Amino acid sequence: MNAVLTNIRTGRKKMISSETKVLGLIGDPVEHSISPPMHNACFVEEELDYVYVAFKVERGGLPDAIGGIKSMGIEGVNVTIPHKSAVMKYLDEVRENARRIGAVNTVKREGEKLTGYNTDGIGVLESLKNRIGKVRNKSVLLLGAGGAARAIAFTLAEAGADMFISNRTASKAENLSSDVKEKTGVDLRTIPQERRDLAKIIEDVDVLINSTSVGMHPNEDETPVEASLMHEGLTVMDIVYNPLRTRLLKEAERAGAKTIDGLGMLVYQGAASFEIWTGITPPIETMKRAARKALEER
Ligand code: ATR
Repeated sequence: MNAVLTNIRTGRKKMISSETKVLGLIGDPVEHSISPPMHNACFVEEELDYVYVAFKVERGGLPDAIGGIKSMGIEGVNVTIPHKSAVMKYLDEVRENARRIGAVNTVKREGEKLTGYNTDGIGVLESLKNRIGKVRNKSVLLLGAGGAARAIAFTLAEAGADMFISNRTASKAENLSSDVKEKTGVDLRTIPQERRDLAKIIEDVDVLINSTSVGMHPNEDETPVEASLMHEGLTVMDIVYNPLRTRLLKEAERAGAKTIDGLGMLVYQGAASFEIWTGITPPIETMKRAARKALEER
């Protein structure tokens, strides 16, 4: 019996043969990743002869995994925790934006050559643009200064947003700010994470983005900003996607703010990777539907 991929919505099938090109995810853990269903749904829909699988690669296994990509002719991979920074030294080329961010989430193989990209920031930018239009000259308060925040800060600063950043550990926000300034020339002002300072800035900004893990399962009852600071002039985006409706987003909605959940970032970063590998823009609605379903089933 031949292996097949089936689109569970349309019933359409796709054969997996000896010609099928393989893409994948390397990281640990990867068991609950939504990337395989998200990409495979598009391969079936677009009749592309690719399959996407998850490879659990432990911390020490990275060099072997990279060798495997080359020796087994894997077309490309997404890279996730704990390899996003470590992978850089094994690549032949790292694109400028990934180098600035200091992390790679997408690798493309061409012959023996591996090139690294970062599509995390593009995910947030596209998701935001989809809801509010242009980002240029919009004022944005970014909460957090970890890996995700770095990708968002560089991408939005370069897209012309007027950026502010606030983090529990103020020194990390200062470091990110000076890094962005040094590498892009854009000023990213830091705001102390004190109620008074946050209240003042949130009153004025167009967009608030949570890139911290606050509110993530199992701490759904937590929120990075208290409800009384939300207002209807605000667009609030949360990159947490477990759960999709975080306390922050529920309270923002109640205050009349526009909200954007973490699904958009996931889907648009995946779409950008898909395009890097295949040269084809994927059907976004198919990706969204597959991602939402996979999240619901987790
Ligand atoms: P990621 O790669 O997802 O960004 P990370 O690098 O571990 O993950 O960053 C997590 C972010 O969430 C950091 O900005 C962290 O703040 P610190 O730099 O002070 O550690 C923030 N964060 C995590 N838990 C938090 C909490 N309970 N309150 C406030 N910020 C928190």
